[in-house]
Amino acid sequence: MSRTLFVTTALPYANGSFHIGHIMEYIQADIWVRSMRMAGHTVHFVGADDAHGAPIMLKAESENITPQALVARYADERPKYLNGFNIRFDHWHSTDSAENVALSQDIYRALREAGLIDTRTIEQFYDPVKGMFLADRYIKGECPKCHAKDQYGDSCEVCGAVYAPTDLINPYSTLTNATPVLKQSEHFFFKLSDPRCVAFLQDWTTGSNAVGAKRLQSEVLAKTREWLGGEDGEAKLGDWDISRDAPYFGIEIPDAPGKYFYVWLDAPVGYLASLKAYCQLKGLDFDALLDPAGATEQVHFIGKDIIYFHALFWPAMLKFAGRKTPDALNVHGFITVSGEKMSKSRGTGISPLRYLDLGMNPEWMRYYIAAKLNARVEDLDFNPDDFIARVNSDLVGKYVNIASRAANFVTKHFDGKLAFVGDTDAMVQEQTALADSIRAGFEAREFGRVIRDIMAYADRINQAFDAAQPWLLAKGIEGADDATRAKLQDICSRALAGFKAVSVMLTPVLPALTDRVAQELFGAEQPFVWADSGQLPQAIAPFKHLMQRVDPKMLDDLFEPPAGAVVAGATAAAVAAKAAKPAQAATSSPAATPGDGTVTADGVLPGGEAIAPIITIDDFAKIDLRIAKIVDCVAVEGSKKLLQLTLDVGEGRHRNVFSGIKSMYEPQDLIGKLTVMVANLAPRTMKFGVSEGMVLAASHADGKADPGIYVLEPFTGAKPGMRVG
Ligand code: MSP
Ligand code: ZN
Repeated sequence: MSRTLFVTTALPYANGSFHIGHIMEYIQADIWVRSMRMAGHTVHFVGADDAHGAPIMLKAESENITPQALVARYADERPKYLNGFNIRFDHWHSTDSAENVALSQDIYRALREAGLIDTRTIEQFYDPVKGMFLADRYIKGECPKCHAKDQYGDSCEVCGAVYAPTDLINPYSTLTNATPVLKQSEHFFFKLSDPRCVAFLQDWTTGSNAVGAKRLQSEVLAKTREWLGGEDGEAKLGDWDISRDAPYFGIEIPDAPGKYFYVWLDAPVGYLASLKAYCQLKGLDFDALLDPAGATEQVHFIGKDIIYFHALFWPAMLKFAGRKTPDALNVHGFITVSGEKMSKSRGTGISPLRYLDLGMNPEWMRYYIAAKLNARVEDLDFNPDDFIARVNSDLVGKYVNIASRAANFVTKHFDGKLAFVGDTDAMVQEQTALADSIRAGFEAREFGRVIRDIMAYADRINQAFDAAQPWLLAKGIEGADDATRAKLQDICSRALAGFKAVSVMLTPVLPALTDRVAQELFGAEQPFVWADSGQLPQAIAPFKHLMQRVDPKMLDDLFEPPAGAVVAGATAAAVAAKAAKPAQAATSSPAATPGDGTVTADGVLPGGEAIAPIITIDDFAKIDLRIAKIVDCVAVEGSKKLLQLTLDVGEGRHRNVFSGIKSMYEPQDLIGKLTVMVANLAPRTMKFGVSEGMVLAASHADGKADPGIYVLEPFTGAKPGMRVG
């Protein structure tokens, strides 16, 4: 049965570049989409930028540009990432689009018609200076429980207490520092507590799709049970506040001047908007595609943090607006880097762009992520050593190796022709059956299992090839008898038939590589589809090099922080320049060039480099230097350069900082000493963990003149936490 699928990934907020978590989600969805297409299904795969909301509005404001300009800037760089990792959306749109305005307003009107919209006056903190209602994250104050200062409006990071912003002692607006005042406003609510909604959601969450697969993974279903309550129909869901007051970057609520849809209302509608724009481009019938009674399956790939929106709000909105409801949510866990969580605000340990800029093969990453993914909501760790091992020993060592060993014999002695001795049915059957199980594994999103099974088959092909010792036969082959020649040809042909089958099976994961295999090696006209797995190849073209191994040094470069994050002869000005341009420092050559400063006196280079360009006192004030006590210090296993410092800056917690000073100091000699650190440097995930700042040290620009690195130590009397300036 050929199916029609409408597939989306979560719409990324348009106030930042893609990070590795986004790329992971797109790779998962892209692999799935490709495998479904290979099976002959029709797939419409779309994405979009999630453009609306307060953070984007405020960020644009701080840069003195319009939110539209900010969104456009990130939209412009999207293709570089997507093309770079061979992720092929059919269309990429924006929630700030005419299609989305029309669809969101239509859906809202339909919900209002259905009697599911309510208005209520609520009281909320308001920033009188900014003239704006404040979301919880823009309010800070003293924790009512443990009295820690500067805690957010919803919970305390020190003691974990959860409370309302109005419970904070001495609350202030993080936007202006003003004391917020309570102010009333009329808000619009979607009545999720309505028995119709609850009954529908009980049904929808437990349902199956057209081919009998559960709509929700069991962990996701369990979550929705918690939120929905049991079968007794006791309503646990509160109504959902869907309005925000001006100023807000969003879509206006019809018939309600000054009121906007909360970003999470119009964000998922962006899925439909993107499909609609795509349909217009391609001449497809959008309404027919999403006919509630039609056969299209609507599938959303999302991360575990946004289940609530997708498993409750979104299906209910669609249902009661009289539209088609989703058929499946495919929820994945989070990617961590070397065991460290990365947060949305902090950014990530591996920059996808840096990965591409270093010339690392995008299909290594696709392969690695596939090998680590399954259909459960589990986190996945990017571990550099594991990455190297899987790519080099499995992908290159097992798979690519088959062709590079077998092909040359065939080209050299048999003019590229394949021929088999004896029965091939068993081999073809094995390949067909395996390919079918692999196809089903991809469909079930058991990518890790799929990769294991494929590699086990590659092992068997290599073992058979080794056991037959074709290199011995090849030695005297030009003068050999026909039977010996046929035997050598058979051994190589079987290996290459196996290689072809494995290539077909890896096509969703390695589309670029297997396209080359299909077209350049086997002379196919089209990329592989599942049906190709049972077709024995007849001939090959001369083998061309297919894939490089990972050079472990690349991983060091991928993680190596810009010079500023590990100490190295940085003057305050150089640090300032780096701190001001973190993005550039991360992608361009990290080393500061000696002599790029402006203030030099005739070839005098103090410390081996010119003084950096002049900065203002305001520039300097951006760098928060503090006295830090080294409470612990250990060598970092596997690193020649780094020591791991535990620092006390008087914050009531400790900081972890990696510093490139191993060549100079024994860890135990540093314990108990005071030093100076940059306390407001963005944390950075390195190969060995997150570094939360940087310790100051002096060094000569020319490592040959003086290879030393000398950590700063304050005069007696300085205490941890004191500001340096
Ligand atoms: N804009 C909302 C989604 C709206 S969908 C109608 C949003 N954006 S996001 O940019 O924060 O996240 C986009 C997707 O990336 C989400 O599915 C999220 O779960 C996923 N990830 C964010 N960090 C991630 C990891 N560290 N690992 C894997 N996926 C992660 O939420
Ligand atoms: Zn507290």
